[in-house]
Amino acid sequence: MAQIISTEPSALQIAAQHLKNGSLVALPTETVYGLAADAGNGSAVAGIFSAKGRPHFNPLIAHMASLEMAERYVQFDTLSRKLAEKFWPGPLTLVLPLREGAAIHPLVTAGLTTLAVRMPCGPVREIIAMLDSPLAAPSANSSGRISATSAQAVQDDLGDKVELIVDGGACVVGLESTIVKIEGEKAYLLRPGGLAAEDIEAFIGQPLLRLDQRAAIQAPGMLASHYAPNAAMRLNSEEVREGEALLAFGFDRANHAERAVMVLNLSPSGDLHEAAVHLFDYMKQLDAAGAATIAVEPVPHHGLGEAINDRLSRAAAPRS
Ligand code: TXA
Ligand code: MG
Repeated sequence: MAQIISTEPSALQIAAQHLKNGSLVALPTETVYGLAADAGNGSAVAGIFSAKGRPHFNPLIAHMASLEMAERYVQFDTLSRKLAEKFWPGPLTLVLPLREGAAIHPLVTAGLTTLAVRMPCGPVREIIAMLDSPLAAPSANSSGRISATSAQAVQDDLGDKVELIVDGGACVVGLESTIVKIEGEKAYLLRPGGLAAEDIEAFIGQPLLRLDQRAAIQAPGMLASHYAPNAAMRLNSEEVREGEALLAFGFDRANHAERAVMVLNLSPSGDLHEAAVHLFDYMKQLDAAGAATIAVEPVPHHGLGEAINDRLSRAAAPRS
């Protein structure tokens, strides 16, 4: 059972301290309850995926306390800034280019070069301001279940996976945020949500083009090179071939590991949580070593291994 606390200032300070220490906290937003972690802390963010039992590393939304704070992490175009000024705080998420070197762990973006940002209403925003650091938070429900809109719903679903739930009462919107992405002159609706598309269209004076999220995430040219590495990926490798780089896992090495031009081990102790934390960064580093192929040792399929293998097989998929 998780501890349920109020939104009194002293309770919010306790929640902020937990987050600062790398723990997960379920927090109320105006849309749905979020399962929050410090967006700069890879281990904490990996904890979100294991608590939810997510089979994929879907990119997460980074929640900001202010527009100024968001500007530190992403680059706003004119139209996106206007939308933020008009609708924030509120149920609108904007997908924007991530700033080089921004302190956002790659598990949050799933290795993309864009970051989804939003400024939520309510106590969660006070907590983010206290931390002066964004919170990554998907809806606080197990993968495949419906989103939680009360503290009790979070307790029923994730009570054994999270220590602390801040009870802000029932969510006033009750539906996830609307996700919009501006590209040049065009505005895309990636996910309909708590802010009506018509309201956005009326404000910007142009239609929102419908593009589904999967297409947006997978569209060529929108992927970071470390998400789809330049190198080919050879999964479940039992041996290393001449000139390959090696993405290792666990204690035992593939045969002829000495042939590898570079070796990085996702987790020498075989800890899948640790492996998740390193995955995107290590793929990027091995790719930068210039090998034509990255051999990848087998990663077990249980727990976070399912999501790790999902990402590895996407990175290994033939590219056109
Ligand atoms: O109202 C909400 O948005 C809630 C509350 C907690 O803020 N959060 C939420 O998060 O619904 P989640 O993880 O369930 O949904 C986030 C969606 C995902 O479907 C993901 O595909 C999309 O945002 N997304 C995140 N980053 C993206 C990116 N860089 N490009 C395109 N889509 C992205
Ligand atoms: Mg969700």
